[in-house]
Amino acid sequence: SVIDRPKGQQPTATYDSAFLKACRREPVPHTPVWFMRQAGRSLPEYLKVREGIPMLESCMRPELVAEITLQPVRRHKVDAAIYFSDIVVPLKAIGVDLDIKPGVGPVVANPIRTRADLDQLRDLTPDDVWYVTEAMGLLTRELGATPLIGFAGAPFTLASYLVEGGPSRNHEHTKSLMYGDPQLWADLLDRLADITAAFLKVQIEAGASAVQLFDSWVGALAPADYRRSVLPASAKVFRAVESYGVPRIHFGVGTGELLGLMGEAGADVVGVDWRVPLDEAARRVGPGRALQGNLDPAVLFAPTSVVEQKAQEVLDAAAGLEGHVFNLGHGVLPSMSPDALTRLVEYVQTRSAR
Ligand code: CP3
Repeated sequence: SVIDRPKGQQPTATYDSAFLKACRREPVPHTPVWFMRQAGRSLPEYLKVREGIPMLESCMRPELVAEITLQPVRRHKVDAAIYFSDIVVPLKAIGVDLDIKPGVGPVVANPIRTRADLDQLRDLTPDDVWYVTEAMGLLTRELGATPLIGFAGAPFTLASYLVEGGPSRNHEHTKSLMYGDPQLWADLLDRLADITAAFLKVQIEAGASAVQLFDSWVGALAPADYRRSVLPASAKVFRAVESYGVPRIHFGVGTGELLGLMGEAGADVVGVDWRVPLDEAARRVGPGRALQGNLDPAVLFAPTSVVEQKAQEVLDAAAGLEGHVFNLGHGVLPSMSPDALTRLVEYVQTRSAR
């Protein structure tokens, strides 16, 4: 795929950063590292600025978003920033009645289960998310050479929140719709693909240097069902942003059996959780794509020497890869020590220095 950004659209220092080089499978000065959910979570400076401001409201205040996005870059010296937001923000922006409940996650007032429900999901325009454009403008000025990652929820994971009405372990309403009314399901995923693609375009045009599509819960599906019922919608999202030439990252949890298909959907970089070692993941994904991952987040609760040993195992498994971006196998946990994360960044950057 074409991932060379047309010259002049992005500052050269950003284009030449270790993170974007690794995504493009070019030689790097060191293995770049960032963490999913690095913004927010355990940082005391995050808890301080968020005090008294509900999660969704904080996502709509450009200066606050910029500050929270910058906090982990300043503190940990990670190789990339991830835009502070949530996967349900574009749905809220088109008028879906939903909230993010602390300790629970996204909750949807009127779950989408019929064709009439689906008709309420309208297209997203840049004006709906003006605060994203504004915050990204502030950020690209502040970040200098550090790339900014934009993101969105993938159609399946968004559908799982919309159809269940909230977080779910078994995805029973979602699967019941997917298996029981394949046409309505396909139409729902196609609508979500258009909304997601429009949202990613806004972010890229505002300065995002890479985008990540989070299909966090798609590991609940067998490969044949993924191929038939999910891949077409995710592929539509990736195709819609291909011409921008920014790297497209695709991530899910428990996706060991889906890694090849997730690459096929159109990713330049495939995110891997901690259950599959990176050398094996590379065989499953095949040539022509970089990998991102994959330290078990819970390892961060062990003593430093163990964290470093496990991080080294990840680096060793990635030694033969064309492109590797170090990350956790899933997001930062709220109880994690910020200092342990800072030490891990330094370990990865110094140990991998060529
Ligand atoms: O990565 C980052 O640092 C950027 C910020 C970010 C958030 N959510 C902020 C957030 C990102 C990338 C997300 C993505 C997201 N949101 C995903 C995909 C990533 C993944 O972890 O698999 C999913 C599934 C969601 C839905 C969601 N939103 C959940 C499950 C939760 C956690 C509920 C909880 O409190 O345990 C949220 C809320 C949320 N999103 C918080 C943050 C910082 C916590 C809210 C708070 O601090 O009040």
